[in-house]
Order: sequence, then C-alpha cells, then structure tokens
Amino acid sequence: MAMVQLNQKKTSSMNNFGRKIVNWYKKYGRHDLPWRTDISPYSIWISEIMLQQTQVKTVIPYFNNFMQKYPNLDALLEASEDEILAQWSGLGFYRRAKNIYKACRTICEEYNRKLPDNISDLESLPGIGRSTAGAIMSIAYNEGYPILDANVKRVLGRYEKISFKTENERNKNLWLISEKLTPKKESFEYTQGIMDLGATHCSKSKPVCNLCPINKGCDSAFQEIEKVTLAKKITPKPTVKLDFILPYTKNEVLMHKKRASEYWESLWIPVDEKLGNISDDIKCLKININHPLSHLNLDMSIRAFEIDKKYDLGSNLDYKWIKKNKVNDYAMPTPIKKIVNTL
Ligand code: ADE
Repeated sequence: MAMVQLNQKKTSSMNNFGRKIVNWYKKYGRHDLPWRTDISPYSIWISEIMLQQTQVKTVIPYFNNFMQKYPNLDALLEASEDEILAQWSGLGFYRRAKNIYKACRTICEEYNRKLPDNISDLESLPGIGRSTAGAIMSIAYNEGYPILDANVKRVLGRYEKISFKTENERNKNLWLISEKLTPKKESFEYTQGIMDLGATHCSKSKPVCNLCPINKGCDSAFQEIEKVTLAKKITPKPTVKLDFILPYTKNEVLMHKKRASEYWESLWIPVDEKLGNISDDIKCLKININHPLSHLNLDMSIRAFEIDKKYDLGSNLDYKWIKKNKVNDYAMPTPIKKIVNTL
C-alpha cells in the first residue's frame, strides 16, 4: 500500500516504469489507430475530445469522417456550429462538439490559427481539462505531462494500490502518482502506451497480469480484483417524460432545434405534443422509448403520423420541415434519427 507524499509538478526524465511502458508500446501498442498515423496537433486535439467518455472503437469512424470533412483548422473554421453538431450526430455528449466550435474561434482570434503548444493555454480552451491538455502536450508535442483518464486511473491505482475514502482524495493522489511516474522523454510513446495498457492487459474485469510489462512493481499484480467502492454521493438519475408528435409528409418531417437545457441542447428533435397544434384523435403510430443519458433517463412517447401538406406551427420554436433525404445534415439524437429514417 503506497501513501504518496509528493508535491512535485515536474515529471522525471525516464524511470523504470516509464521505460517499460515505452518499450511495451513500441512493440505491442495500437499503432494503427487513425489518430496515430497522420499526426498533427489539430488531429490530436479532435481525437482526444472524441475519446473523452467514448470508446476507441466507437470513435474511429467518427474521427475518420470528421478529418475527411475538416482536415485542418482552416477547414473547421468555415463550419457552423450546426454543421459540426451534425458531424457529431450519434457520438453523444454533444457539449464536446459545441466546445470544439467555440475553441476553434478562440484559436483563430487569440492564437493566430494554431493550436497552443503550452499546457496553460490549452487548458484555457473550452472542453480541454488537465488530462486532455496533458495528452495533447505529450502526443502532439512530445512533451511529458501527466494524464489521468479512466484507463490510466485504473493502471496507476492498481500499480500503487492506493486506498482512500473519497473519490476526491483518490483523484488527488492519482494525479500525484501520474506526475511522479510520467517521464519527460518519449512522451508520445509513454502516454499512448499507458492508455493502451489500461485498455488491454489492465482491463477492468479481466487483467492479464502475466503479459503486463509492469507486473514486477505492481502492488496488485496476480491478485483478485479489488472493487473500488468510495464514498460517492449516489443520486438516482431523474426521469424526464417527453411527449412528442412527429408529423411527416411524403418528403419531409417536422422537427425543432432544442434550446439550451440540460440535455440535447442545439439538437433537432420532434415537437412537444402541447405545441404541435394537432387534435388528440388523429390516427398515429405510437412509439415508446426509454433512453438513458449520463445524468438522466428520458422516457419518450412519440406519436408519428402522415399528413398531406406541411403546416405552419404558429409558434416561436426554431422549427423546420426537414427533407427526409437530408436528415444526415442535421444533428439528431440517435433514437430520433432511427425513427425518422423509418418514415
Ligand atoms: N483514450 C484517450 N486518448 C486516447 C488515445 N490517444 N488513444 C487511445 N485511447 C485513448
């Protein structure tokens, strides 16, 4: 059990831990991931934002499509927030796309159209926290800064089997461990190596300690998995009930752009039945969907029905009759897009 008593900011040049991870990455790392082949600070920024809270296999097609459409900052600067959101459609956590749009403007206005190459300017950009800034510094600029995403937390937490009462205390100490162990050299290889180790041999439920390059110094190697239960406020997710109508014509479907709120902000979704201007007894197809989000559950009821002619909602909603063959140009939550595609 290690109690960390470090207060250093700087990372070491190359310790044994770092050396083993770097060598392992060179031999076994996932070198063919698309953001590891054609590297620029811009592509690393986009990939790191996409990889926040989202698995590698989900991100790959989104990253490839995004880079094809917006291969560099100049191309991205031409895009509207709506266009970036449309490109993000289905990836979830849409605040990330809105932050990319905002950060892009700041990079243009304050940083001469170049992604900053120092940690404090990176951290000042919307959507970039300490770990993402550390990952960009290490991977894009090969400068060793600690990171602490979920995989790295697991690797370091097992390596120095720390035990703390609260999530906060644990995180503080994991940052200290990450600072201590992150080497200054070969930062590109080290950072992606420790990410890969967490995603492969040091997985959550089935660690493969005999293949792990750092099993010798690891306080948890070959032991039963420790369940980390910390004093965390467990609040049940609230459920939001949504009653939508979804009128459609032969070629179009009625949607509106959601205003600022705790979910689906700026996405295109159906209209609330109270605002739909439709009689209760209209013949329709009723679809019920439960859709969990990270912080709440949506309990949706959608009444879809065909009409001959589009009509005026007479509302101040930002609404549109969207051409069915153009829905991919709009950012829509995945369950909504699936339904629209069946109409
Ligand atoms: N998770 C976060 N950043 C990553 C990266 N660059 N490669 C693989 N997984 C990651």
